[in-house]
Amino acid sequence: MKLTHKLGVVGHPVNHSLSPKIHQAFARQAGIEITYDKFDIEDAELGLFIKDFFANGGNGLNITVPHKLNCIKYVDSAANEVKRLMSANTLILKDGGIFAESTDGPGFLKDLCVKEIDINKKNILILGAGGAAKSIVSSICLSKKPDSVFISNRTQPKVNELIKVLGKDEYITPVDFSEYKMHKDQVRAMDIVINATSKGLDGKFTWEEDIPVHEETIFYDLSYSIGQTSFLEWASKFSNNGFDGKGMLVQQAALSFKLWFGFSPSTEEVEELLNE
Ligand code: ATR
Repeated sequence: MKLTHKLGVVGHPVNHSLSPKIHQAFARQAGIEITYDKFDIEDAELGLFIKDFFANGGNGLNITVPHKLNCIKYVDSAANEVKRLMSANTLILKDGGIFAESTDGPGFLKDLCVKEIDINKKNILILGAGGAAKSIVSSICLSKKPDSVFISNRTQPKVNELIKVLGKDEYITPVDFSEYKMHKDQVRAMDIVINATSKGLDGKFTWEEDIPVHEETIFYDLSYSIGQTSFLEWASKFSNNGFDGKGMLVQQAALSFKLWFGFSPSTEEVEELLNE
């Protein structure tokens, strides 16, 4: 009988998660048997759940909203990037303990590569300053490639907090978009605009601040939905270059799968599967 590997994703809520479908497709490619379950766990039960899952034969867990920060309390060790950003999305067994990793930022950069979105010398604007924005902005800045990285957020003080967390040892220091706009006579157009907010998930997307764009501006939504996301619907009045978050979702999952099994799955067919 084939060995079955026990995996899952923990969130609250988690019912919408496409991760089981993605990881089952990866497992077919790798020729291994897995179970991959969705666990809707509240904050108070998170620590006990993680401990029990691994004590009872669990091989790997994905962590999603709202537990990416809190799960770190319950692991034995963590990657440096996880400690710096205080965000993890993958738990693995390592040296007899539970180890926390994050594949969000690297998965995002991988998807840009796959989609041939070149960030070299570009002006990039990130909308949002929450957990999702933090991983993305950090990866973009560490890549050292863009000309400038700007952040705009509904709650202004959170922009400065994020810049403080990232600005210390990043290669490119992100800039507060509203400050930049106030002090520049001629604001340059943004080449890439990334939506890292949860705005528009259940309604229309609009943005308070004017965003200077050009016809070729690329709009990238970290969220995804069955049809077009409301951010991409809003963006379609500026340009036709729009991408939703399914690509990043598949790439970060592929990196988690590699951490668990040392196997790099092919992602193209899996992204197509999600679009069906
Ligand atoms: P996540 O981990 O998914 O990033 P989060 O840390 O709660 O979740 O961050 C959500 C982001 O979406 C924040 O930038 C939030 O803006 P605030 O910092 O002002 O709360 C943004 N957001 C959520 N709802 C929004 C709305 N209706 N309008 C504008 N921004 C919104």
